[in-house]
Amino acid sequence: MKGIILAGGRGTRLEPLTSVFNKHLLPIYDKPMIYYPLSVLMLAGIRDILIITNENDTKFYDHLLGNGDDFGININYEVQKKADGIAQSFLIGKKFIGNENVCLILGDNIFFGYKFSDLLNSAVKLQKGGIIFTNFVKNPKDFAIGEFDKDGKLISLEEKPKIPKSNHAITGLYFYDNDVINIAQNLKPSPRGELEITDINKAYLNKNLLKAFDLGRGFAWLDTGTHASLLDAGDFVRTIEDRQGLKIACLEEIAFNFGWIDENILIKRIEKMKNSPYSLYLKLLLNK
Ligand code: DAU
Repeated sequence: MKGIILAGGRGTRLEPLTSVFNKHLLPIYDKPMIYYPLSVLMLAGIRDILIITNENDTKFYDHLLGNGDDFGININYEVQKKADGIAQSFLIGKKFIGNENVCLILGDNIFFGYKFSDLLNSAVKLQKGGIIFTNFVKNPKDFAIGEFDKDGKLISLEEKPKIPKSNHAITGLYFYDNDVINIAQNLKPSPRGELEITDINKAYLNKNLLKAFDLGRGFAWLDTGTHASLLDAGDFVRTIEDRQGLKIACLEEIAFNFGWIDENILIKRIEKMKNSPYSLYLKLLLNK
């Protein structure tokens, strides 16, 4: 399975924070936003990853993450010239995906919860169709929303509905079989001029090939699209990390625990970031 992080867009709602560089490089407490979605792909065991971003920003990502060697993964970069929609990821990433299945995660989505790795491990085994994840929200007009029947079966989807049929939002994490490329190629832009991810999901749903998993009440799915939600996400990460003494989305830790990087790479990272608490945390891993 290949992985794509969509990290383009103009981030206009976050101006002037986003006037110099892309929003997915902004800090969420102690690390850049992109670390969080990248950690999700890594936890799913996905090591071939494409980051899609704006033309002027690839150099920053390259500087931050390089070709992925420091994290035991392969990182490729592609440019999205204009924010023409989330589903465009599969057109931009067509060559990268090749004949494989693909997981797409939006660069501004943060996931944290018990047994999330187990959920990812089963999703990554997808053979046919698509898998999406839902979470209850108080502001359903801001998301794609799922409608469920009495037995909890997904029966309809709507992107940013004026009159939402439920409070179950579709999160920015999607697993698809290779047919997603075909579906994306046949999509028409929506009235707002975007290739909609919800239209991809509807295509799978119409064929009865879409599974929706609810992440549940105990799960934290955070958005980072506004100044307030950006700060809230940072506060959340700080609270959990302070309490547990464990980091959320520490890429080196995931890679080291999976045996994807050895001690030499870990030492190199510790040296590179020395004097930071992040580096001290990595040092603890070494001594475990
Ligand atoms: O967060 C989940 C929601 O994400 C879903 O429920 C919606 O179905 C989906 O449309 C999306 O809604 P948003 O309003 O959050 O989309 P937004 O335009 O803010 O973009 C989400 C992320 O994707 C953001 O990090 C920017 C990036 N993006 C978006 C578009 C449309 C791109 O890189 N390129 C794009 O063309």
